[in-house]
Amino acid sequence: MLHGHQLRIPGPTTVPERVARASTRPMIDHRSAEFTSVLDDCRKGVQWALQTDNDVLVFPASGSGGLEAAVANLLSPGEPAVFCTAGWFGQTWADIAAAYRVDVVRVDAPWGEPLDARALDRTLGERPDITKVFLTHNETSTGVVNDLPALAEIVKGHGRLLAIDTIGGGLCQPIGVDELAADVVVSCSQKGFLAPPGLAMIAVSPAGLRATETSTCPRWYFDFAAQKACHDVGRTLSTPALSVLYALQEGLAILEEEGLEQVWARHRTAATMIRAGIEAMGLRLFAKAGYRSDTVTVVRSPFVSPDDHSAFLRDLDAEYGLALADGHDRMRGRIFRIGHLGAVVGDDAYAILARLENALEAYGITVDGEPGAALRAARLAAHRSAWSPTIAEVA
Ligand SMILES: Cc1ncc(COP(=O)(O)O)c(C=O)c1O
Repeated sequence: MLHGHQLRIPGPTTVPERVARASTRPMIDHRSAEFTSVLDDCRKGVQWALQTDNDVLVFPASGSGGLEAAVANLLSPGEPAVFCTAGWFGQTWADIAAAYRVDVVRVDAPWGEPLDARALDRTLGERPDITKVFLTHNETSTGVVNDLPALAEIVKGHGRLLAIDTIGGGLCQPIGVDELAADVVVSCSQKGFLAPPGLAMIAVSPAGLRATETSTCPRWYFDFAAQKACHDVGRTLSTPALSVLYALQEGLAILEEEGLEQVWARHRTAATMIRAGIEAMGLRLFAKAGYRSDTVTVVRSPFVSPDDHSAFLRDLDAEYGLALADGHDRMRGRIFRIGHLGAVVGDDAYAILARLENALEAYGITVDGEPGAALRAARLAAHRSAWSPTIAEVA
């Protein structure tokens, strides 16, 4: 393939060359001062990215490991806890809690819609026995970004502990952990942080740490108190994923050079361009307007048959150099998901739209307007945006 392949699934994301090089640095003694400095940089960088002074604990795990850690440290078997779900990942967190024998009280929203703050308010009003709420920031399975300030206000208004999965969105879109007064916030290395998979980074408030003292779910590898005690002396509980820490350190350095507001603006612009292009093609967005994520765009499939849909996604990758993700569970074969997070600039939006339009045309799917309508709509969206896609670059 002569053209550069576009990996545009919603994580893992493309790793910039600077980060890839950093990840090949030699192994070092993980009980040395040199290691402590790498770990400190990563923990401080994540605090910066999530806008928090809370302790950041780093575990060798994927994001799901971080979700499991939150359950295992905050909850006890038989304890009722609210899990807000509006898609596959919210459901996953509730399933993890059920596996730990937690009494899961769900506040569900239909897939494609945001979490309902009023329903959450009602449930918390009716259940004073519930002390903790778990919810997803960016529901990567549906392309919805939830209204965190409104949800956090409800949770905090009821005086409950708040745990947030920001794996699919944190950093790329404003989160402001301290402003939300969120107690446990789970992120991971392979999404917006420009690094490969392998690390779950979890910000834990003093109240979150206190809650672990009474929680009786079994845990060892993921024990917050034990990991914090190690981090406090510059170490980790078990052998750290050194190469991924090197990568995260470098990814954070790149992002800090760019500046957080510019990171948000870059994602907002790419997302706006892609959404405009998709709609200009006559395709339909899955997520409710007003709640569309800046990290993933979910599109209803133009194919009637799920088999044709899957064949199209395979060809799009192999022949056109664009890897997109299928839907989860009951949405498999009915939607496709475009990841535009991490190393993404406006030029990538053009590449994504052009390849998609070409492939759809080859498949006989009539797109609205003249050929190139998607690119023109994207250009217009970029023009209206504060950030110019032709000059900004991720190193
Ligand atoms: C919102 C959300 N939560 C949880 C996960 C699971 O993370 P991982 O696949 O790293 O375990 C993902 C992964 O896409 C996600 O987007």
